[in-house]
Amino acid sequence: MKRIDIGIIGAGYIAAVHADVLARDDRVRIAAVHDVVPACAERLARTHSAIAVATTLDLLERSDAVFITTPNTQHVSLAIAAIETGKHVFCEKPLATNVADAQMVFEKTRNARGVFQVGHNRRFAPVYVELKRMLSETHAPHSAHVKMNRGELLKPEWTGNPEITGGFLYETPIHMFDMMRFLFGEVESLHAIGSRHEYNEIDDFSVLMKFASGMHATLATAADASWLFPFERVEVFCHHATLVTREMESLTKSSNLEGHFTTQTMQQLPREEKWGYLQEDRAFIDSIANNSPPLVTAFDGLRSVEIADAVYESVRSGTPVNVR
Ligand SMILES: NC(=O)c1ccc[n+]([C@@H]2O[C@H](COP(=O)([O-])OP(=O)(O)OC[C@H]3O[C@@H](n4cnc5c(N)ncnc54)[C@H](O)[C@@H]3O)[C@@H](O)[C@H]2O)c1
Repeated sequence: MKRIDIGIIGAGYIAAVHADVLARDDRVRIAAVHDVVPACAERLARTHSAIAVATTLDLLERSDAVFITTPNTQHVSLAIAAIETGKHVFCEKPLATNVADAQMVFEKTRNARGVFQVGHNRRFAPVYVELKRMLSETHAPHSAHVKMNRGELLKPEWTGNPEITGGFLYETPIHMFDMMRFLFGEVESLHAIGSRHEYNEIDDFSVLMKFASGMHATLATAADASWLFPFERVEVFCHHATLVTREMESLTKSSNLEGHFTTQTMQQLPREEKWGYLQEDRAFIDSIANNSPPLVTAFDGLRSVEIADAVYESVRSGTPVNVR
């Protein structure tokens, strides 16, 4: 089989993570890299014996599949250009930074020739795969508490600029919106309070969520806390059982009334596997090779954008909001 030629648009941190994973997959070849900063494209291209190209058009001509790894507000126009030229697309999260744009990309993917996958990597992280298995097989969830903190919005520099991120919720907590849908199903309504501290936007949120299943959950997320471990934690409360994840490092289960617990650790896994990057990239290439549907669709990307949008709307209005 001919190798799948991959083009990478945006040659920063996460592009290098994907490129390292793809370089280990015999089915693909990194063909071309484009970045608005040519030196970034050249550096990544050199590492993988690819060509650095000056334009998106040139990159599309040399690629069967593209990875969109630019900052958030640059995803939509690039995704549409890639879909319209019939490419397979892996688009980093968020799919878009407003509902209208997310809907537009979703509509485009309905008649697309290629596979379209969104980079919600948490779905592939072993800690969450195992948690989902427990929730569907042995421990039906009653409620949950989820938190995701950042210590700062300084690295990369653009993460503190809502004009580029679309807002903090689209940058970091969007991971948790997708994760909560993955674990608990569709969100029906939510009520959020937010406040502004260190940055030029609302940077601290408390959200109360109701799911279509009847389950409920809280999400606490702050951009300006600290990097105290674990900055990502999920606690699920079930019938005389509590399931707790710490980062993507471990999963603890206590299912008795004595407080005894067992912990599965994923600490020993390489980071790209622990965080699900390796598995999501393999899944994307599998979908292309087997002509099978992607495991994280544009619809999933749209839904997580709708939840982020509903949280902002609830903070603005001070009232509960139905999620479309
Ligand atoms: N799934 C995850 O866990 C995860 C982790 C990190 C980043 N991300 C996402 O990946 C994207 C990139 O993040 P990063 O941390 O790699 O950022 P980065 O700043 O390290 O890299 C972005 C690169 O894109 C380039 N760029 C900007 N606009 C461009 C354009 N229009 N065309 C071509 N290149 C352009 C920049 O010059 C830069 O080199 C963001 O959307 C971010 O949210 C996802």
